[in-house]
Amino acid sequence: MSEPLDLAAFPPSFAWGTATSAYQIEGAVAEDGRAPSIWDTFSRVPGAIDNGDHGDTACDHYHRWPEDIALMKGLGTDAYRLSVAWPRVVPGGDGPVNKAGLDFYDRLVDGLLDAGITPSVTLYHWDLPQALQDRGGWTVRDTAEHLAAYAGVVAERLGDRVTRWATLNEPLCSAWIGHLEGRMAPGLTDLTAAVRASYHLLLGHGLATAAVRAAAPGARVGLVTNHSTVAPASTRPEDVAAAARMDGHTNRWWLDPVFGRGFPTDMRELYGVELPERQGDMEAIAAPLDWHGLNYYFPVTVADDPTGPVPHAREVRLPDVPRTGMDWQIDAGGLEALLLRLTEDYGVRELYVTENGSAFPDTTGPDGEVHDPERTRYLEEHLAACARALRKGVPLAGYYAWSLLDNFEWAYGYDKRFGLVHVDYATQRRTVKTSGRRYAEIVAAHRAPHAR
Ligand code: FCB
Repeated sequence: MSEPLDLAAFPPSFAWGTATSAYQIEGAVAEDGRAPSIWDTFSRVPGAIDNGDHGDTACDHYHRWPEDIALMKGLGTDAYRLSVAWPRVVPGGDGPVNKAGLDFYDRLVDGLLDAGITPSVTLYHWDLPQALQDRGGWTVRDTAEHLAAYAGVVAERLGDRVTRWATLNEPLCSAWIGHLEGRMAPGLTDLTAAVRASYHLLLGHGLATAAVRAAAPGARVGLVTNHSTVAPASTRPEDVAAAARMDGHTNRWWLDPVFGRGFPTDMRELYGVELPERQGDMEAIAAPLDWHGLNYYFPVTVADDPTGPVPHAREVRLPDVPRTGMDWQIDAGGLEALLLRLTEDYGVRELYVTENGSAFPDTTGPDGEVHDPERTRYLEEHLAACARALRKGVPLAGYYAWSLLDNFEWAYGYDKRFGLVHVDYATQRRTVKTSGRRYAEIVAAHRAPHAR
């Protein structure tokens, strides 16, 4: 049994949410003027996605959003993290704005507010307009500027109702997995491209922050980054050094510049790629933010790997530890540690867990119920970690479970299910899983006056 949840640790204003992203749930990829994104392209590359899956229909959320809002309401959640699809709003990446695209998010935001759910809008969750990829994508500076222009357009339209904005989701995945490891769009394996992309993503974040603030003066802007705790596989100095490099690659490279420390020198030397820096960039990248979003899934353990790819640290698979269906190690302590690190080391004053969750092969019982005890346990353990962090003074203001719905899990397609709500893709039927019910129970218990 998991430890009982210390509900009193969560402040009364705590935001209880769920999260999704546009390409993973919307479908309707060719409707109302949307143009292709790099994920539409990448999902057509033979072998890139398990089972040849793609996001053409996904959860059909583009048409079923009222039902999905009703699901959130049924769970009792009061916050929802969504992303806006850039290729719906500015299909060419820059240039003309597609009114029909903006109208969709306008209706969605109104629907959420009517249901008493506060939207948190992420501007870029990996679906770069293909037209910009054709002009160099994140490897060129223009893309950062186009992101800011697009961000201004969205903030101008929604900023009277949306206050919680995130510029980017997990720039690490865009840069490292998309440009270095090749397992995500645009599918490159080129260190120079990857480092340049990382730079332009963070620059885009900085420029978009200013653009959102200019268009929507009440906006509270943050950045969503994903992190892992990193442990050495042994006490050998080589492994300890490898862990420090992996920590630089996974954590410091993304946080140091955003929190005003510049790009870490050890990593700059290791990558050996000149940054396309111009005057004023570092100030833009380090613009003070209103909040920070942490996405946390798993810890990593590494050993020295001098001949392997950068950062020359090989992941070691620990035996006999609990794992999810993604084969990711389960360790709620990692969430607590990262929340403390963001608070104590980086001085974050308002934090959200913007994603956290687990994939497991669900089974639907003869009663039609989807029983997912492992996901339920993962949820409980990670909420307990949040409670411990809160008790230690972490300014945690909300938790968004990944994900509201089973959805298109990028290179893994539809086989990996992260939802609190099961989706039968053949019928688009939604069924709340037992984990969803448990989440609803926790939220309700926290709201009940006696909990505090
Ligand atoms: C994160 C992504 C999110 C989802 C989860 C499982 O890296 O931000 O879209 O795929 O992983």
